[in-house]
Amino acid sequence: MKNTVVVGAQFGDEGKAKITDLLAQKADFITRFQGGSNAGHTVVVNNKKYAFHLIPSGILYENKICMIGSGCVIKPDDLKAEIDNITAQGVSIEHFKKCLKISPLAHITLKYHCDIDGYSESELGKNKIGTTKKGIGPTYTDKYARSGIRVEDLFNLETLNKKLDVILPKKNKELEFVYNLKPYSKEEILAECELYREILAPYVDFDWQENLLKIKQEKTILFEGAQGVMLDIDYGTYPYVTSSNPISAGAGIGASMGPFALQEAVGVFKAYMTRVGEGAFITELLDETGEKLRSTGAEFGVTTGRPRRCGWFDAVSARYSVLVGGLTTAAITKLDVLDNFEKIKVATAYKNKKTGEIEKNYPTNVYTHTDYEPVYETLEGWGEDITNCKTYNELPINARKYLQKLEELLGIKISIISVGPDREQTIFI
Ligand code: GDP
Ligand code: IMO
Ligand code: MG
Repeated sequence: MKNTVVVGAQFGDEGKAKITDLLAQKADFITRFQGGSNAGHTVVVNNKKYAFHLIPSGILYENKICMIGSGCVIKPDDLKAEIDNITAQGVSIEHFKKCLKISPLAHITLKYHCDIDGYSESELGKNKIGTTKKGIGPTYTDKYARSGIRVEDLFNLETLNKKLDVILPKKNKELEFVYNLKPYSKEEILAECELYREILAPYVDFDWQENLLKIKQEKTILFEGAQGVMLDIDYGTYPYVTSSNPISAGAGIGASMGPFALQEAVGVFKAYMTRVGEGAFITELLDETGEKLRSTGAEFGVTTGRPRRCGWFDAVSARYSVLVGGLTTAAITKLDVLDNFEKIKVATAYKNKKTGEIEKNYPTNVYTHTDYEPVYETLEGWGEDITNCKTYNELPINARKYLQKLEELLGIKISIISVGPDREQTIFI
């Protein structure tokens, strides 16, 4: 396998973890490169379901190294809870100690980042982003404001103290006077950092430079994206986005290996669309068809349990994702969810409701999205269970026609089709 990055090509929850877990069979090293425990990644093996948030989705294999890269943000107590959940399902803690690595350059989410995330959301009221309240935005804000705490800081008390002397007075002013929140004493933060140091100690890879050089030269690498292109801080439906770069270009930075370590970018698309949180969603269905997609696809968030908004496949945003996400091939997931839909629609363009004109480009200013309505092409459904199909030719003719239509609209080859949550329910073409 070529060094590959798995990128969510819609609004997240496309089934990236299933695809990552599958491709991880052929990789030696699997690395997350952005995001934090806002992600909710489900892997199903022999009917057993595992939920990951920060841990790379390749962790279920023996002898593969899984790394939480420098571009990620880590809330160590969330990571501990995640490890505890997986060990309760039978994976040994020794396995984690052997296979899980953390970059010393990743940033730490402290309690105050979560306080700010929660408060900002309630302050925004009806204008809220609908974040996961995991402190993601405030942690990345501090990173770029050059006032963040990195994993390595937890292991050097002298510099941690010096940093806190600079950071904390300013942060406390922000907490008290901007947000009307409780300030933290230095002792409280030091105690929090001590706890986090203990949690992370077995996993931090202080020899990451030497190790990554070798991995780059000798091993097959799988980069695992979280969220999706339409939630990207630069290219998504800004400001209704996350605070990192889920696009393929984010992988070179966030996994400390530069852009030329990547050879292929698989964009993961659900056969329809979902979104959690607020923000534009031009093909959203607020009727019983949307409800049917939600119930058939079990569309409820892994991290927050929120019901996901549902709608038809949007080829306008998909083409945009192919471009800005740097996608080279596509994986189509959850095709089986459409088994019992008589008609299936795909948005091929947007029509401007005021002028009647067709807009082929994706309108990047989301505040104008209410001006548009989708122009749909309607295809016939297939009306039969495809969850046991093992090859492309076993798929009903109308399912193949739907895939051909998507491939034509995307302009890249579909290389993987997923017809159920299990590893086995996958067709490679
Ligand atoms: P991720 O965040 O992109 O990894 O996706 P999530 O795990 O949040 O959501 C995808 C959900 O769809 C999970 O519950 C998966 O087990 C499930 N899933 C993945 N692929 C398929 C598929 O082809 N068919 C069905 N029915 N479910 C799938
Ligand atoms: P995976 O990796 C779907 C959404 C939130 C919110 C916005 C910003 O499972 O696909 P944040 O907490 O990141 O500041 O929230 O992004 N969001 C996701 N939606 N899947 C995800 O991850 C998401 N991670 C964040 O709902 O709209
Ligand atoms: Mg998810």
